[in-house]
Amino acid sequence: MDSSDLPGDLAKMLVSEEQIRARLAEMARQIEADYEGKDLLLVGVLKGAVMVMADLARELKRHIDMDWMAVSSYGTSTQSSGVVRILKDLDTEIAGRNVLIVEDIIDSGLTLSWLLENFASRGPASVEVCALLRKPDAAKVHIDVKYAGFEIPNDFVVGYGLDYAEKYRNLRGVGVLAPHVYE
Ligand code: XMP
Ligand code: MG
Repeated sequence: MDSSDLPGDLAKMLVSEEQIRARLAEMARQIEADYEGKDLLLVGVLKGAVMVMADLARELKRHIDMDWMAVSSYGTSTQSSGVVRILKDLDTEIAGRNVLIVEDIIDSGLTLSWLLENFASRGPASVEVCALLRKPDAAKVHIDVKYAGFEIPNDFVVGYGLDYAEKYRNLRGVGVLAPHVYE
C-alpha cells in the first residue's frame, strides 16, 4: 500500500519503504558493533513500534531478547501530555541487562522521558533508545537518542506502525496526514 491507495488521506509521503529499509540496516550495523559481546534486550513500545521492531530485529545478525511494553499518555488524539499509565508491563526483569528501547517516533519526548526514568529505577546495566523518527521542532524535553532514523518536520504523521484512530498503521511508508482528516 502506498499513498496512491489512500487518495486524499495523506497530504504527502515523507519516508518511503525503501528509505526505511536502508536506514534500519545502517542502524542495525551500528547496534551490532556497539553491543558486540554483550547481551541485548530490545523493548518495543506498543503499538506504534511493532513495524520498527519486526524489521530492525530481523536485520540484526546476532541473538537478541525481545519484550514489549504498552503505555498510554493521556492527552488529545494528536498530542501527548506526559502523564503516562502502564497498560502492559515488561514480562522480563531488566536488572543487569542491556536494554534498547525501540520506538516509532519521538515527538514531545514526554512519554520516553517518563519511560527512561521508570526503567532506570529497575537497575539495568544500560538503557539506550532507538527511534525511527524524531521531530526536533516538537521536543519539550531533551532525550538522548543513540540510534535515530529520520528527522521529520512537526506534522502529524501516520504509517509504518503509526496510527490515527488506529488506522494507517499498515502503510509501508510514513506520510503526513492531511489536516482535513482530523480537523
Ligand atoms: P511523545 O510526544 O510523548 O509521543 O514523544 C508519544 C507517542 O505518541 C505517538 N505519536 C504519534 N503518533 N503520529 C502518530 O501516529 C505522530 O505524528 C505522532 N507523534 C507522537 C507515538 O506513539 C509516540 O510514541
Ligand atoms: Mg509510540
